[in-house]
Amino acid sequence: MTTPTTTPPLHGRTALVTGASRGIGLAVAHALAGAGAAVLLTARDPEELRAAVLEIRALGGRATGLAGSVGDPAHLEACVALAVEELGGVDILVNNAGTNTPFGPLVDVDPDDWRDAFAVNVDGPLRLVQCAWRAWMREHGGTVVNICTEGAHGVGPNIGAYGTSKAALLHLTRQLAGELAPTVRVNAVSPGLVRTEMARFVWEGAEPQIAAGLPMGRIGEPDDIARAVLWLVSDDAGWVTGTDLVVDGGTRVRGARTGAGAAYTVHERLRAHGG
Ligand SMILES: NC(=O)c1ccc[n+]([C@@H]2O[C@H](COP(=O)([O-])OP(=O)(O)OC[C@H]3O[C@@H](n4cnc5c(N)ncnc54)[C@H](OP(=O)(O)O)[C@@H]3O)[C@@H](O)[C@H]2O)c1
Repeated sequence: MTTPTTTPPLHGRTALVTGASRGIGLAVAHALAGAGAAVLLTARDPEELRAAVLEIRALGGRATGLAGSVGDPAHLEACVALAVEELGGVDILVNNAGTNTPFGPLVDVDPDDWRDAFAVNVDGPLRLVQCAWRAWMREHGGTVVNICTEGAHGVGPNIGAYGTSKAALLHLTRQLAGELAPTVRVNAVSPGLVRTEMARFVWEGAEPQIAAGLPMGRIGEPDDIARAVLWLVSDDAGWVTGTDLVVDGGTRVRGARTGAGAAYTVHERLRAHGG
């Protein structure tokens, strides 16, 4: 039995969350700050980022921001340097920022657009882990969570670049978990459809039909994902590394409840979006 304590579980820890001005990243930043961590948030739009930082501070959290793209290696080095200088380290890294473009069949994909997707979804997260390892985690330990997608476990119309790059991020997670253990734990969270701007084109106007086809009867909220991340970075998950925590409301087991083809599916929305 553990002794009751009022100290927040992440008190004294420092965290870096990319893509944290809205959506899942903002929910993660709130969850980490609420658990006592000092958090560095990133995003490209400085105004939206500033608003997010102020929102967390208004609730009593310790937060700061640095605007830039995870596709820019210089920005990533600056993020880690700032986290160490201003917050005192980078114990927790959440690679959340991602892009779901280019959209369309892979057979027609433009090579530059393909590389851009990998720069944000794969190269950026790897670069950040490298920077965090060298500047802090190698000596002090730490934990990394990469936000992948449930979709990377299968295939879908028009989202091949997204799915392929996220599948690469999933493998990167496992590879790094093996390389960096026992000093650093590296895990993934794979969300199903979550109510955010990025996925608005999927759920808006079709939410009742999509929800009816999901075993849990609703689409995800950013907090559903944030709670999973919070557990993975906590000491409660101290023996967990190299895993992918799928948080999808049962998306992958929906056939048993609704029957094949009974639901207005996400795939139909993706197909329609492709024109
Ligand atoms: N929503 C879903 O259904 C769903 C499902 C599975 C996985 N995911 C994953 O969850 C993660 C978060 O997505 P979300 O749904 O929360 O999206 P969102 O609501 O659109 O938020 C994306 C956040 O990332 C930032 N961002 C985007 N591109 C960036 C870049 N190149 N560099 C730095 N920041 C960037 C955005 O701010 P700026 O635009 O100002 O940069 C924003 O803060 C993504 O990796 C996504 O693939 C989402």
